[in-house]
Order: sequence, then C-alpha cells, then structure tokens
Amino acid sequence: MQKKSEMGNHIVFIIGVLCSIWLLYRLVKFIYPYIHRSNLKKYLVTDAYAVITGATDGIGKAIAIALANNGFNIVIHGRNPDKLQAVETEIKASYPECNVICLLHDASKSSQMNLDGIEHLPITVLVNNAGVGPINELAKFSGNQIDEAITLNTAFPSQLTRSLLPHLSKQSLILNVSSYAGLFPPPYLAVYAGTKAYNNAFSISLARELENTEVISLITGSVNTGSNTKPVTFMRPGAATYAKHVLAIVGCGRKSIMPYWPHAIQTFLISLLPEKMIDNAIKKAMQKELSRPS
Ligand SMILES: NC(=O)c1ccc[n+]([C@@H]2O[C@H](COP(=O)([O-])OP(=O)(O)OC[C@H]3O[C@@H](n4cnc5c(N)ncnc54)[C@H](OP(=O)(O)O)[C@@H]3O)[C@@H](O)[C@H]2O)c1
Repeated sequence: MQKKSEMGNHIVFIIGVLCSIWLLYRLVKFIYPYIHRSNLKKYLVTDAYAVITGATDGIGKAIAIALANNGFNIVIHGRNPDKLQAVETEIKASYPECNVICLLHDASKSSQMNLDGIEHLPITVLVNNAGVGPINELAKFSGNQIDEAITLNTAFPSQLTRSLLPHLSKQSLILNVSSYAGLFPPPYLAVYAGTKAYNNAFSISLARELENTEVISLITGSVNTGSNTKPVTFMRPGAATYAKHVLAIVGCGRKSIMPYWPHAIQTFLISLLPEKMIDNAIKKAMQKELSRPS
C-alpha cells in the first residue's frame, strides 16, 4: 500500500517537473523575440534600398523613416502625389545622404504597379503595408468598396511581391503588415478581417517557401495612425514607436509575430476569457466605433 502511494507521489512529481519545463519553454519562446538583437543590419548591403507601400502616412511612413535612420535608401509608395512629395522632403531633410524614390499608384484600382524605375536597384527590404479597414455592416458596403479593399489589401501585395522577388538581393527581408483582426475577426470588419487573415497566411506560406529570404507577418494591434486617430496610450503606441518595435524583431526566427510586446500580452490575457464574454465586449466596442462620426 505504502509502495503504491510512493509510486503515486513519484508520478505526480514527474508530471509537475515536465509541466514546469514546458511552461518555462513557452515563456522563453514568448520572450526571446522581444529581447534578441535585431539583425536588420544584415540587409544593409552597399546602396541597399527598402520598398515600403502605403508610406505616406501612419505605420508605412514611420517604417520608412526608421529604415532611412538605419542607413537604407528608400522607395516610398502612395496614391497622393503631394503626400509622397512631403514624405520625400521630410526624409531628405533628416537624412540628406538617403536616396528617396517615389512610386505613385492607386492600388485599390489595379493590383499591378509599374516597377520600371526600381527593378535594377539593390532592393533588400520590402514592406507590404498599404491597407484600409473600413468599418460597416457587410450589407451596407457597395460592391466596388469590397472589390477595392480586397485589391489593395491582398492582390496588390501578392502581385508586388511576385514582381519584386526576382530582383531582390540574395539575402532579403519581406515584412507583411497583417492585423489582430485577421486572427480574431471582430464584427463589422468582415472584409478587412478576411484580407488580414490572407496577409498572415500568405506571409507564413512564403516564409516556408523561400530559402534566403526572411519573411515575417506583423500581427498589428491598435496603433495611432492616420486611420486610427484614437489617442496614443501604452496599449496604442504612436506609429514611430511601433516602427521601432517592428525593426527590433527582425531576425527573431518567427514567421508571424505581434511586434509590440504589450499587444502580445493583451492578446494572451484576452484569450483566457470565456468566448461569449469576448464576443459581447467586442460587439459593444465595435458598435460604439460604428456610431462615431467619421
Ligand atoms: N493603425 C492600426 O491600428 C492598425 C491595426 C492593425 C493593422 N493595421 C494595418 O497597418 C497598415 C497601415 O495602416 P495605418 O493604420 O498606418 O493606416 P494609414 O495611416 O491610413 O496609412 C495607410 C497608408 O496606405 C495608403 N493607401 C491607402 N489606400 C491606398 C490606395 N488605394 N493606394 C495606395 N496607397 C493607399 C495611404 O495613403 P494616403 O496617405 O493617401 O491615405 C497611407 O499611406 C494597414 O495594412 C492596416 O491594415 C493598422
């Protein structure tokens, strides 16, 4: 009898040790990407260029400036010539040695952009960032609005990546800006959430396909930008702070990650709540959002 209970204690002890090792492993796996040293410099070959889509505002503009600050020449894409010019001027003023090239293209109208001026350049970084996320009941969208959002958010980055792949330098980096909405789709964002799930799956698939190219899907939470004008808080960083976190996770070894660690902790804590509670809270929040004057 005593032998049996000793055996039982041993089994409980072994299970306890195994669970602790597993928890420790999960913790280290979670923390590592946020404390490791970025290997962005690996992509800074002579005259290296970075291409950033949707670089006239918000996250794209902030990443373009952060890359210029790290010594890259920059190709900025946008649909508004005045805003493109303004970003070019801003970058040149802070980094006079940086070459800036502008690509003007409305990517909601056509997914294929003319790349004539940039194909010969030593491009080592591509950031697929341009995207929109209109909030509405699905039935209230026009057919064109849906087509345009899908073209901009999914077809455009796919076509651009395909076109640039043969021209990218041997060692290169592709960052695809996805969203929390692609993993946990909120109501009134059905089309946007679908496109962001696409960005994530596209990115992970490509990461598994390409040998010498680092491909990372950036699962983005709330960031203060041109389209998300709610105030900056600890949980909603400004675009420049977010861009710093993005460049810091380069080389982390993950195919898909929330670059801003408070977003990752927030997501983990939310996932512990009962699903019904999450559904109700998110619906209320989105209805409030929907009723905000645009
Ligand atoms: N901010 C957030 O909370 C958040 C959360 C999750 C994911 N994201 C993702 O982050 C990315 C950037 O969003 P953001 O918040 O930085 O938005 P933003 O400030 O509105 O910037 C969007 C950029 O995309 C450009 N763009 C929009 N429509 C375009 C079109 N038809 N053709 C070419 N360029 C176009 C914009 O140009 P204009 O300057 O001419 O408008 C701008 O440069 C998006 O993919 C978005 O889904 C953002």
